[in-house]
Amino acid sequence: MNLLVRGGRLFRRGAFEAADLLVREGRIEALGPPGSFPPSGPAVEAAGLLVLPALVDAHVHFREPGLERKEGWETGSRAAARGGVGTVLEIQNNDPLTTDPDRLAEREARARAKSIVDFGLYANLLPASRVHLGRMAETSPGFKAFLGGTIGHEGIRDSATIHALFAAAAAAGRPVVVHAEDAGILAAAAPERPAAAETVAAATAIECAAATGAEVHLFHVSAGRTADLVEDARARGLPVSASVCPHYLLFTEEEVRSRGAWLRVKPPIRGRADRERLRAALASGAIEALTTDHAPHPREEKEGPSPPFGLPSVDLLLPLLFALRDEAGIPLERLLAATSEVPARLFRILGKGRLEPGADADFVLVDPERRFGVEAAGLSSRAGWSPYEGREMRGAPVATYVRGRAVFDRGRFASAPHGLPVRLEGPKIR
Ligand code: NCD
Ligand code: ZN
Ligand code: ZN
Repeated sequence: MNLLVRGGRLFRRGAFEAADLLVREGRIEALGPPGSFPPSGPAVEAAGLLVLPALVDAHVHFREPGLERKEGWETGSRAAARGGVGTVLEIQNNDPLTTDPDRLAEREARARAKSIVDFGLYANLLPASRVHLGRMAETSPGFKAFLGGTIGHEGIRDSATIHALFAAAAAAGRPVVVHAEDAGILAAAAPERPAAAETVAAATAIECAAATGAEVHLFHVSAGRTADLVEDARARGLPVSASVCPHYLLFTEEEVRSRGAWLRVKPPIRGRADRERLRAALASGAIEALTTDHAPHPREEKEGPSPPFGLPSVDLLLPLLFALRDEAGIPLERLLAATSEVPARLFRILGKGRLEPGADADFVLVDPERRFGVEAAGLSSRAGWSPYEGREMRGAPVATYVRGRAVFDRGRFASAPHGLPVRLEGPKIR
């Protein structure tokens, strides 16, 4: 089926241009100046709207199987589509962890049955998964390592195990994606989670990348000093990259003190100087990518006596880009790259993150001027609350298309599951 998207301003190769887009069989067939394509068949009128590549969020938790009461693929993928996200890369950090190909296949079957957006599923990097990495590398975009304690799991503490697992990941040819907080420092400093926990774990990961040849991606960088380590590693030519999340760029520890559990997240939101350094690192590209770390926990648990760590936000990713542009002065072009072509490149995802002929027709229509107030009732995540509640934002998607089909359109979602596993370039075996 053909679809013509006409009259919009399209984001392509780092800039905006007036252009029409022709979709055929779920792929972009051609792009051209306004009026290039004779109207024949269905058209999407994009006058007054931006046409952006659907975002690629490289770090979400949908918690299925095991903790569907907190999210699951149905609500999680709707939240993604509402946030302008056409592809999620998902981490399983509750039992059963993805330590072998059967468990990976089971996760995939569930996502296929329920997701309205496309998806990649990280496998877990643990001693138990080591012998299975080669097989899992066929379909998994990366291997998730816990360097330090995170939800449900003690971190891998000893450096011999870390080194061996990074070497195995390098041999399997997929990146190691890292939660970097050193377990020893966390234990010694509890209940604080000092920046040193992050920098020590990040340095370990970077040195293991250097020693084993593993590609390493550091998730949710929270400390300015970690950005320095990443910049230094890249200057050394190491295959190291990193991502930051909107909450580290929009809040500081002052708000954490006043809002308590509602901003409780691992690693923690830090001070103003860290926030400034992270903003500058994202703006310069030293930190290349931006992800949500969508970490849904129900309101009752956040209000309870020992609130879990984590913040939902995939519902709002596109508006958050506009907030980062308006409040942090980061160019929108850079923010869009950090949430589309950069993650697609880092994880070698084919056909995503760019509006180019031959790519999947994954795009978002947005009216950048229309403002709205964030209300929990207007979100799709099962979490039922948002750290951004009450905030005035702009840039909510009008519609999100995945492979030529509207999975979200003016408040309505595709009823049938439409999501497919991402296509990956082959493993990079050195
Ligand atoms: C995440 C979660 O809830 O799954 N929580 C968090 O505070 N970031 C886990 C994680 O990303 O470490
Ligand atoms: Zn984490
Ligand atoms: Zn996470």
